[in-house]
Amino acid sequence: MTTDSGSDRQRDAAGGLRHLLTLEGVSRDEILWLLELAETFVRPPGELPARGTSLVGRTVANLFFEPSTRTRVSFELAAARLGADVVNLDMQSSSRAKGESVLDTIYTLQAMAVDVFVLRDAEPGLPAWISRHTAPHVSVLNAGEAHLSHPTQGLLDALTIRQLLGDTSRLVIAVVGDVRHSRVARSAWQALRTLGMGEFRLVGPRELLPADDELRGARRCATLAEGLDGADVVMALRLQRERMAEARIPDAESYHREYGITARSLALARPGALVMHPGPMNRGVEISDEVADGPQSAIQQQVANGVAVRMAVLAHLQRRARDPTPPSRGERAG
Ligand code: NCD
Repeated sequence: MTTDSGSDRQRDAAGGLRHLLTLEGVSRDEILWLLELAETFVRPPGELPARGTSLVGRTVANLFFEPSTRTRVSFELAAARLGADVVNLDMQSSSRAKGESVLDTIYTLQAMAVDVFVLRDAEPGLPAWISRHTAPHVSVLNAGEAHLSHPTQGLLDALTIRQLLGDTSRLVIAVVGDVRHSRVARSAWQALRTLGMGEFRLVGPRELLPADDELRGARRCATLAEGLDGADVVMALRLQRERMAEARIPDAESYHREYGITARSLALARPGALVMHPGPMNRGVEISDEVADGPQSAIQQQVANGVAVRMAVLAHLQRRARDPTPPSRGERAG
């Protein structure tokens, strides 16, 4: 298995997006087009959810080799609301465990007329590798690849920020916590860098920040006082213990004291700054209840936008995969 990011692999011969493996190489116009399409699926809280027909007759398989609640349900609802049949395979207990190769699983599902594979895996490279082996009309969607990439999360974060703060080009975005192990932070950075932003700050203890050759141009800050000063967006991240060497795991109480987003630390940011979190949250560690549930929190809106973004991506990719010739608006070749 190679570990290329899949930036070229995800395009068809006409240059359109056929898979979504990474946000690397996805243009500003393409991102804006997907966000615009996602907006058409957003409904105010309490209203019936948006539905569409673009996946009627299609089948979407969710293959999650890592635990997930929100992302898996979000993909499942997105596909169902567009009319698809959806199958969820709990891969933690199935094929790899039985020694069946992942590829056999893919071929088996393809023979059952699955059109879209949504994949999550702890190892890098699986989505791009699978995309080499699927039929031309099939799309592969990355729903979380190791610590590297989580493209639909990057898109939903960008959508949420744009909805609440408008143009991103001058915004100061502070991502606080375990950035080193976070695919969410990497994909948010890719989306926002492409859309344009003022400053991207990585805030946390040195051992939880990525090496300097990653997320180039992002400012590293060792304290909340430095990292949150004047920030428009504060994104808190979970300590991803499952990806850490034992020795790196900080003690939750001292971490909270130094890096927890509380009413007190949030006051360091711009008044009214948005608070974001991809979930799952560890309340009392990286974020306090009063902030997670407070007036500046955009967390529920992120979750709601997740379904809309996944509807947009599913509809768009399947349209391309079935009819690759005319590049649609916003696409590289168009
Ligand atoms: C995250 C993930 O799995 O990368 N959650 C998500 O997809 N919303 C973040 C995490 O696990 O901390």
